[in-house]
Amino acid sequence: MTLLRRKKNVTGEIVLITGAGSGIGRLMALKFAHLGAVLVLWDVNREGNKETGRLAKEVGAVSIHTYTCDCSKKQEIYEYADKVKKEVGDVSILINNAGIVSGKKFLDCPDSLVQKTIEVNTMAHFWTYKAFLPAMIASNHGHLVSIASSAGLTGASGLADYCSTKFAAVGFAESIDVEMHALKKTGVKTTIVCPYLIHTGMFDGCRSKWPHLIPSLDSEYAAEMIVNAVLREQVYLIMPRTLYIVVALKNILPVKMIRLLENYLGAFNFMDNFSGCLKKD
Ligand SMILES: NC(=O)c1ccc[n+]([C@@H]2O[C@H](COP(=O)([O-])OP(=O)(O)OC[C@H]3O[C@@H](n4cnc5c(N)ncnc54)[C@H](O)[C@@H]3O)[C@@H](O)[C@H]2O)c1
Ligand SMILES: *[C@@H]1O[C@H](CO)[C@@H](O)[C@H](O)[C@H]1NC(C)=O
Ligand SMILES: *[C@@H]1O[C@H](CO)[C@@H](O)[C@H](O)[C@H]1NC(C)=O
Repeated sequence: MTLLRRKKNVTGEIVLITGAGSGIGRLMALKFAHLGAVLVLWDVNREGNKETGRLAKEVGAVSIHTYTCDCSKKQEIYEYADKVKKEVGDVSILINNAGIVSGKKFLDCPDSLVQKTIEVNTMAHFWTYKAFLPAMIASNHGHLVSIASSAGLTGASGLADYCSTKFAAVGFAESIDVEMHALKKTGVKTTIVCPYLIHTGMFDGCRSKWPHLIPSLDSEYAAEMIVNAVLREQVYLIMPRTLYIVVALKNILPVKMIRLLENYLGAFNFMDNFSGCLKKD
């Protein structure tokens, strides 16, 4: 956790949000619109993305650019990145938010779905950084935001594919942050977001076993927390707060006790009643 800094001014900054067509992505888009940022919205879901653009206009966005980009495809990412640079300019705040979850036990998950999950939740982060980081380094100005998950800090049953991609997203974003410091490009900021269950529909059917201890998050609250973390240039955002304790315990307790704790907290059965499914593209 970092000390509270002043909120930075994002007026005129070019903010790219992947997965802007629903959930947290849409809510963040509306908040950045309100703050006067130029919006670049990517989603594989054209209709959802258009709707986000329309809502952003309603709240007074200065400039909105929507693109139907499938982030599971490297070539598409590079193609749309070039388009954005030509049509809008250099992205200064990159928010990797697009994500999918199969919700299947590992051996029941088709190979193609495992691969897709890795492409969207992890590889897209590599390719978007490749596309937009050079300009940030050149001007020593920018912000890389990774919407990972608490599933990127601790494993869970029925989430092997998802957890792997989120661990990777955390490791990738953290490494690039270290690299920026090594290169003395400290004007390029990083924010790594690890939320627990959020009510967006992505994890329909799942619930917190101990809602008083680890409450699930309202999507509006989660988006507000994320945008504030970006404005204050906070590097890590883990929510709800009690997860900081769970993560600390995980690093100091013996493994047997960790498994007991995980079972107690519901990590064995979290996905049992999962009813969400991949939206068709
Ligand atoms: N909902 C939760 O409980 C929760 C918890 C922790 C982290 N997260 C993460 O937050 C992020 C946002 O999730 P959400 O809850 O808003 O879910 P959501 O399903 O509402 O939003 C995800 C968006 O990503 C888009 N998307 C999916 N595949 C894509 C692709 N190939 N290319 C481009 N866009 C694609 C979808 O169309 C959708 O608009 C995800 O990365 C998710 O893993 C969610
Ligand atoms: C924020 O930045 C914009 C553009 O650079 C500037 O016009 C505006 O006055 C700034 N706002 C504040 C509160 O500093
Ligand atoms: C799944 O649903 C059943 C029936 O409603 C309930 O008894 C059970 O506790 C739920 N399991 C989890 C892990 O939420």
